[in-house]
Amino acid sequence: MSPAARFSLIASSVVLAIGLAVFATAITLTQRPSAPPQSGGLGGPFQLTDQDGRRVDQSVLADRTTLLFFGFTHCPDVCPTKLFEITQALQRLGRDADRVRVVFVSVDPERDTPDLLKAYLGSFDARYVGLTGTLEEVAAVTRAWRAYARKVPLEGGGYTVDHTAAVYLIDRQGRFLSTLDVSDPERAAAQLRARL
Ligand code: NI
Repeated sequence: MSPAARFSLIASSVVLAIGLAVFATAITLTQRPSAPPQSGGLGGPFQLTDQDGRRVDQSVLADRTTLLFFGFTHCPDVCPTKLFEITQALQRLGRDADRVRVVFVSVDPERDTPDLLKAYLGSFDARYVGLTGTLEEVAAVTRAWRAYARKVPLEGGGYTVDHTAAVYLIDRQGRFLSTLDVSDPERAAAQLRARL
């Protein structure tokens, strides 16, 4: 590994660790007692709205091998990169890509309307499912999946959202299996194929 790559790895680990610490603190401060976590501890009930304006719940994560990802359409780098990588991995699956569902949950529901999600995700793959909702609904699903998301004001106005970049791999029963590294589309496709 080159020094630059090693530095980048260490830097992102530090950022992740700080993010998790901040998130854990935020949860401790704000979370009300909730239902006990499901087996594996990740996931749980939620209500959101999809890119076609339909109300959906956690069953949208079941019946098919699913990649779950948290992001927002105004994201300058992480989200477009991840979605591009996921798209590349799915292309390598050929027709089997129909057996994988990609679900993108907005961590910026104030700006991400269903229509905006539909247009944004459609530029990658029209099969992708985009979910948004009220601030409370989105907070509930991010909490259930222990995803980190925090609004950060930008100099000169506006804001961005710091968020978890993990891609969650979920089985056909809607249970969390692992995170999936999609940076190498070939390897990600092989791991997905093993789960179909
Ligand atoms: Ni992003």
